Amino acid sequence: MRANRGWNDKQAALGLHSIEKRFTVAALSLQQAQQTFIERFSVSGRMTEESRRSVPGGYSRNSFNFGPHAVFVTRGEGAYIETVDGNRLLDLNNNYTVNVLGHHHPALTSALMDAIPNGISFGNPGAQEGALARMLIERIPSVEKVQFSCSATESCMTAIRLARATTGRTRIAKFEGGYHGFSDMLQISAHPTPENGGDAAAPVAVPDSGGIPSANTDNVLVLTQNDLAGTESLLRAHSQELACLILELQSGAGGMVALDQEFVQMLRNVTRELGIVLIFDETISLRAGYHGLQGRYGITPDLTVMGKIIGGGLPLGAVGGSAEIMNALEDGRVSISGTHHGHKLSVVAGAACLTELTEEAFTTLNGHAQRITTELNAWSQERNSPFRIHGWGFSHLGYAYMTSPGEVVRTHRDYWRHVDGDKTQTISLELANRGYFPVHRGEMSLSLAMTDQDISGLIETLKSIVSDIDSESVTKEARSIAHAV
Ligand SMILES: Cc1ncc(COP(=O)(O)O)c(C=O)c1O
Repeated sequence: MRANRGWNDKQAALGLHSIEKRFTVAALSLQQAQQTFIERFSVSGRMTEESRRSVPGGYSRNSFNFGPHAVFVTRGEGAYIETVDGNRLLDLNNNYTVNVLGHHHPALTSALMDAIPNGISFGNPGAQEGALARMLIERIPSVEKVQFSCSATESCMTAIRLARATTGRTRIAKFEGGYHGFSDMLQISAHPTPENGGDAAAPVAVPDSGGIPSANTDNVLVLTQNDLAGTESLLRAHSQELACLILELQSGAGGMVALDQEFVQMLRNVTRELGIVLIFDETISLRAGYHGLQGRYGITPDLTVMGKIIGGGLPLGAVGGSAEIMNALEDGRVSISGTHHGHKLSVVAGAACLTELTEEAFTTLNGHAQRITTELNAWSQERNSPFRIHGWGFSHLGYAYMTSPGEVVRTHRDYWRHVDGDKTQTISLELANRGYFPVHRGEMSLSLAMTDQDISGLIETLKSIVSDIDSESVTKEARSIAHAV
């Protein structure tokens, strides 16, 4: 495999002997990438096995699993992590988009160190919670009031309860491929399959886990992303039952799909007309800009769910929205309370993180994302490769090896139809093998700690991996040289 990699790039002028060799070189396979991964991350493999005796699967998050097993980390500094296996990797995972500043950022660390000696946990509020709430209100146009929890899962649940209480309706509309945490009410149809998903015109509500009662799936109306006419007609047909529509402007965990501007505008107009609460789940997409991704669309929801970056690396979720709806939490119509909600250290870290996230910082992050997208897609198109960077174009990017060149992802079902899962997984494993740590399902999350050189290295490494996988182009190139000879 390694010989193949260097060999592709370096053998420009070939004799007949070399051409014959090209015909016999196998493309980089998933099996080879897995084998290298197991060797390079053998300590992590052993730790997984050991840990499985006490923790199911070896760790408390299924999503950690990176092909054969998770990669155990010892420390993070700036844009890099170090693993127990002695590997130093550019962190493209960043705790699934949380660590927008990278690791061990001095301002964030010192804010926490200053806060700790005065006590960690109280049954009293402090000044810090209101300070972070005001920062979010200043940034996110639709947010007039904010309530904190410990996670976006919980804040999605709060948003649904608010919508139900203020409309008097029960059902929830959501998109296939949309992920809104692991609650019974919402872990539905984030990952349906061709076998259980039903017809695209009326997708089946599929529980993503055992243990979710059918009462919950019955309460969910599943919609298809970017299907303008179909979605409008389903919303109208079910308007009397629907409390809310919850969506990600760009989905993440259920597969990266960006919603069209005109599609979201239709959703805004129709939900307003029908009295359905429109909820944007910006748990990931808040990192798209100073005003969130909603600011870049220029469209305002009724409620916004936030998470990830707002806690600066500590657990925090939030729901924010119009005072009219949020006041239900104050006047007794809705009751939500959790022991650690708005935890002092989380709000301190969140405020420190947001302070660093100036308009200029977002420009830098988005500039890196644009460069990766433009350079790699142009390269791919030029060589007629199925590899593609996709997504809206902010610092949470998708990559996929499509089933053929030119295919794009516009709905969750396009993953079934057009994404070569094995080859995409091969890219993920091989990125780790070559010094980069992405989200294994085909996502990259950038941090402000990354330099231009880090981005250049990533682009070149992806080109090299794709070249090694792309057996079709190796054969084609070999054929054309053979003709010339
Ligand atoms: C869009 C979205 N909503 C909700 C959640 C749940 O967040 P948490 O894991 O903080 O509960 C996630 C997690 O990845 C997410 O991506």
